[in-house]
Amino acid sequence: MELKLSKRVQSLKPSPTLAISAKAKELKAKGVDVIGFGAGEPDFDTPEFIKEAAIKALREGKTKYAPAGGIPELREALAEKFKTKNGIDYKPSEVVVSAGAKNILFLLFLMLLDEGDEILVPAPYWVSYTEQIKLFGGVPVEVPTKEENGFTLTLEDIKPFVTDRTKVLILNFPNNPTGAVISEKDLREIAEFCLERGILIISDECYEAFTYDGEKHISTASLSEEIKKITFTVNAFSKTYSMTGWRIGYVGCPNEEYAKVLTNLNSQSISNVTTFAQYGALEALKNPEADKFVEKMRLTFERRRDLMVSLLMEIPNVKVGKPKGAFYVFPNFRNYVSCFENDVEFTKYLLEEAKVAIVPGSAFGYEGFARLSYCNSDDEIVEGINRIKGAFERLS
Ligand SMILES: Cc1ncc(COP(=O)(O)O)c(C=O)c1O
Repeated sequence: MELKLSKRVQSLKPSPTLAISAKAKELKAKGVDVIGFGAGEPDFDTPEFIKEAAIKALREGKTKYAPAGGIPELREALAEKFKTKNGIDYKPSEVVVSAGAKNILFLLFLMLLDEGDEILVPAPYWVSYTEQIKLFGGVPVEVPTKEENGFTLTLEDIKPFVTDRTKVLILNFPNNPTGAVISEKDLREIAEFCLERGILIISDECYEAFTYDGEKHISTASLSEEIKKITFTVNAFSKTYSMTGWRIGYVGCPNEEYAKVLTNLNSQSISNVTTFAQYGALEALKNPEADKFVEKMRLTFERRRDLMVSLLMEIPNVKVGKPKGAFYVFPNFRNYVSCFENDVEFTKYLLEEAKVAIVPGSAFGYEGFARLSYCNSDDEIVEGINRIKGAFERLS
C-alpha cells in the first residue's frame, strides 16, 4: 500500500552522521577492518559509579513514572551546576530534563516556531538543527562562517541574514562539526544585538567540557541578566560523562513559563526521562570523581587532536586548522573532492578504498570539507590517516 505520509515528514532526511557510523559498524561486523572517524560520541565507557547509582535506583524500585520535567533532586542539582560551572542563576523550576539534547531542541522548536519563522543557523552546523526546524514549519537560514576565522562567528557574519521574521539564533560552541569556540567579545556583541532586535538565542553547549589550549567555555546566558532572559541554555550528560545511550539532556529557560510549556510537552510525549537513569545523572553531578573522569577524557582528546591535526598537515593539498574544542577536526579536502562528483562520492571512495569512515561536509552545509572525530585510539588515528593519505596518492 502507498505510504500516507504527512507533508511535514515527506522531506525528512535521516541523520547522515548516524548513517555513516551505522555503515562503518555494519562493515566491521562483516569482518572488514574499518576505521571509523564518523562517531559523535566518546570512546570511553560511562564511569562505574554512575552506572552503580542507576543500578541502585533500579533495585530500590525507582521504576515508575517520574515528574515530567525531571526528578526534583536532579533539577536542583542542575540549577546548582549552572550556578557553579556556568555562572548562570537558574531556579530549579526553570530547568527541564528531557531525552537528550536532541529532544530538548525538538521541543524548543515545537514550542517557539510558527510557519515561516526564520532561524539563523551558522554553518557548518550540526545536522539535526535544520531538519528539526523544517519539521515545525520554520525556515532555517544558513549563516556561513569563514574557514580563515577558524569557523568562529562574528556579528558581521550574522547581520546580512537578519529580517523581520528572524525569531531565533542558534549558537553552538564548542562547535560540531568544526570544533570552533567563540571569544567573549564576539559572543557579547552577538548577544547584545539579539537583545536589541528581540531575537531569542538557543545556546547549545553540549561540548562545554571539551576545550583545549587553556581556552575556557563561556555560557551565553552568563553574560548578563538581560541576555539570560532571551537565552535557552541547552546541554546534556551525553558527551560530558560519556552517557550518549542514556538519553538525558536538559535546558535552562529564560523563565518558569517556558519551562512549564516544555514540561507539558514532555508529559504529552515521552512522559519523563527513564526514572532510574536520572539517578545515574544525579550521581554524575554529585560525585567528585566525575570531574576527574571528565578531565582525564579532556586531556586524552587534546592529545589526540594534536596527533590527528599533525598527521593531516603532512598530507599534501589538505588544509586543516587546530580546533580549540569538541572532539572533531574539519579539514578542507577540496583539492581531492574535486576528483569526484561531490563530497559524498569522495567519502564513499575513502570507505571503499581506504576502509576509513568520515562524514562529508555537505551533511553540515559545507561542501568540500569533511568531519573526522578523534574518539579513537592513537594507533587507529595513525593508521586511519595513513590510509587516507595512501588513498589520495592513488588518485593522482
Ligand atoms: C551540537 C550537538 N547538539 C546536540 C546533540 C545531541 O545530543 P544528545 O545525544 O544529548 O541528544 C549533539 C550530538 O551529537 C550535538 O553534536
